Amino acid sequence: PTPEALDLLIFGATGDLSIRKLLPALYMAFVHDRLPVGTRIYALGRQAMDRAAYVQQVLGAARAFIEAHALNDADLDRFASLFDYVPLDAGQAADYAVLAQRCARPGATRVFYLATAPSLFASICEHLAGAGLVDERARVVLEKPLGHDLASARLINQQVGRFFAEQQIYRIDHYLGKETVQNLMVLRFGNSIFEPLWRAPNIRSVQITVAESVGVGTRAGFYDGTGALRDMVQNHLLQLLCIVAMEPPVSLDPDAIRDEKLKVLKSLRRLGPAELARDVVRGQYTAGSMGGEAVPGYLQEANVPPHSQTETFVALKAHVDNWRWANVPFFLRTGKRMAERKSEIVIEFANQPFSIFPDAYQSANRLVIQLQPEESVQLQIMAKEPGSGMRRRPVSLDLDLHQAFTERRAEAYERLLVDVVRGRLTHFMRHDELEAAWTWAEPILNGWAEQHEAPRPYAAGTWGPAASSALAARTDMPWSEEA
Ligand code: BG6
Repeated sequence: PTPEALDLLIFGATGDLSIRKLLPALYMAFVHDRLPVGTRIYALGRQAMDRAAYVQQVLGAARAFIEAHALNDADLDRFASLFDYVPLDAGQAADYAVLAQRCARPGATRVFYLATAPSLFASICEHLAGAGLVDERARVVLEKPLGHDLASARLINQQVGRFFAEQQIYRIDHYLGKETVQNLMVLRFGNSIFEPLWRAPNIRSVQITVAESVGVGTRAGFYDGTGALRDMVQNHLLQLLCIVAMEPPVSLDPDAIRDEKLKVLKSLRRLGPAELARDVVRGQYTAGSMGGEAVPGYLQEANVPPHSQTETFVALKAHVDNWRWANVPFFLRTGKRMAERKSEIVIEFANQPFSIFPDAYQSANRLVIQLQPEESVQLQIMAKEPGSGMRRRPVSLDLDLHQAFTERRAEAYERLLVDVVRGRLTHFMRHDELEAAWTWAEPILNGWAEQHEAPRPYAAGTWGPAASSALAARTDMPWSEEA
C-alpha cells in the first residue's frame, strides 16, 4: 500500500551510493510525482553538519548524477525542502533518541534505507527498535553486499529478522529493477510462442554476460576484499539466470515468483574441484587500452595491494539440474575493463535435426536480449540470400524497446524505490533466495582459496582471459561476439 505520509530515513546519506544512485533516483521519483505528497526525508550520517550544509554539499554533489534534462533549480529547491539532516552514529543509542524526536509524525510510514556497511545493519535495526521507531508498517531496505559468504548472509537475515518481519524487508539487487530484466518476465510468460521451446532439448545453451568497460575506479577499498564473484555473480548474474530458468509462477504475487526463483537456485549444480579447474575462469585485468586510451592494470589502481589476487573477471559454466534444463549449459560471464559495456542474455536454440541446405550453418536461431547499453530483443533467424540458389544467411528480427515505447524509462533505483514506497516486494530478494545463492557461490570461493592460484591476466579492453573463450568454444558455443 502507498502511505500518505512517508518518512524516509537514509542511513549512509553522505556516502557514495547515496550521491550517485539514491538521491538522483529520489529526485526523479519526486519530480515525476511518484513520492507521496507527505514525504519527508531524513538524511543520516556520522558527520556533524546541519541541514543547509547537507543540501549544499551532498545534494550539490548528487546533482551531477541527475539526468540533465530533468534537472532544474526550482525542482531541486522543492526537493531539498523535503530533507532534514540528523547526525547519527549508528552505534549510539542516544542518537536514535534524538532521531525519534525529530521524526515523530503520528501515522507516517517509515522506510529505513540502509546504505551502509552491512556490519552496521544489526546495530541499526536494534537501536531503531529500541527507540520505538519500528512498527508493523515500517519497511527496511538493505543494500548489498548482503554478506560475504553463507554464514554472514544468514547472520544478516537473522539479525534484521529479529526486528522486521520478512514482508517488511526489501533486499535490493538493482538488476531486478532494470526495465529489460522485468521485461524478460513478460517476454516469457506474456507470450505463447517462446515458452513451449524454452527448455531442453530445444535450447542448446544460455549465455549471460555482464561486461563493464569501467575499472575498479576509486572503490578498491571495497572491491579488493570482494572480487567479481561476490560483487556480480552471486547476486546480479544469478538473478538473471533465475528469471531465464524459472518455471511459470502461478501469479505475479511476490512469493509466487520468489518461490520459483528459489527452486532454480536450489537446482544449481555445485561446482567441485574438478569443475572449478575445468569450467571456471578467474581473471584480473592488466594494463591495456580502452577506446584508444591507455589504462592501468588492476594492480596499478589506487589502493589495490601490490600482489592482490582479487578477480575482476569470472566466466563459468553452470548447470540447472532439473527436468527442464537437463544438460543445457548456462555460461555466465562478467568483468571489469572489458572491451565494451554490454549486458546481454543469449538463448541459443538447438541445431536443426537435418539440413537440406548446402551451407555450413549449424544453428542460427538465437534470441538475444540486450539489457545494456541498448535495450533490445533480437531474434536471429535464417533467411534466403537474394539470387539464384538456396543460400541462407542469418538475419534478425529486431525490437528496439526505446523505439517501441516512447514513455520515460525510469532507472532501476527509481523503480525499486517506488516499489518500496508502494509496498511491492516482487523485485526484491527473499531471505532464502539470498542464502541459496550463497550456498552455490561459497564452494567456488573456498575452492579458489584452497588452490592459491593467481587469477589469469587479461589486458584491459579485451573480452577476458583466453581461457574464457576456450571454455565456451570447448562446448562448441562461442561467446556471442566470437560466434
Ligand atoms: C554493482 C557492483 O552492484 O553493480 C559494481 O557493485 C558494478 O561493481 C555495478 O559496477 C554494475 O551495475 P550497472 O547497473 O552499471 O550494470
